[in-house]
Amino acid sequence: MRILLIYGTTEGQSRKISNFITEQLEAVGHDVECLDSRRKMDGLQISSFDAAIIVGSVHQKLHQEALCNFAIAHRSELQKISTLLFSVSLSAAFSNGKAEAQSYIDLFVDRTGFNPNSYALVAGALRYSEYDYFMAQVVEHVVLASHENITEDREFTNWQQLEIDIDNFMETIVERA
Ligand SMILES: Cc1cc2nc3c(=O)[nH]c(=O)nc-3n(C[C@H](O)[C@H](O)[C@H](O)COP(=O)(O)O)c2cc1C
Repeated sequence: MRILLIYGTTEGQSRKISNFITEQLEAVGHDVECLDSRRKMDGLQISSFDAAIIVGSVHQKLHQEALCNFAIAHRSELQKISTLLFSVSLSAAFSNGKAEAQSYIDLFVDRTGFNPNSYALVAGALRYSEYDYFMAQVVEHVVLASHENITEDREFTNWQQLEIDIDNFMETIVERA
């Protein structure tokens, strides 16, 4: 099947996740077009794909603007194929953060008017070694405020769960004639 994968990333974890998904799908024979939402996409024909996977991360409760703009610009074509949104955040890493992580998806849907067929919350990563002072302060005192106080780099992404989510989604797709 032909799969479109569009991602938004700020520190790189969603790109890593997108590359992982691409490898998983290509390994079982699917044809994947993996694109950064910041790229110019002249000539992109969404109707030529069987499904679209959208991967984006959350900063101060919002997904990347370029990803939102992509969803707004293409929502009517996206709504005609199977779609899955992977929302990457730190809240998704904690059992008491799932409702917060879910609220980011609700905001994305409200903001874009695009409602994916399915979605999954994906735990992201802490990259203090790459944050500037302001980012580190926001992460430590706002994002992690009601969770553990972690002050070193850590990856929370559950790669096995990601594989399961992809398999489950692929089972729902009907190949276009
Ligand atoms: C400045 C900043 C703000 C963030 N805001 C949130 C937030 O509001 N909620 C949340 O759950 N995670 C938040 N995060 C965590 C990111 O979603 C997480 O680090 C994710 O892995 C980033 O993915 P990316 O590397 O693809 O951009 C924030 C991270 C940074 C650096």
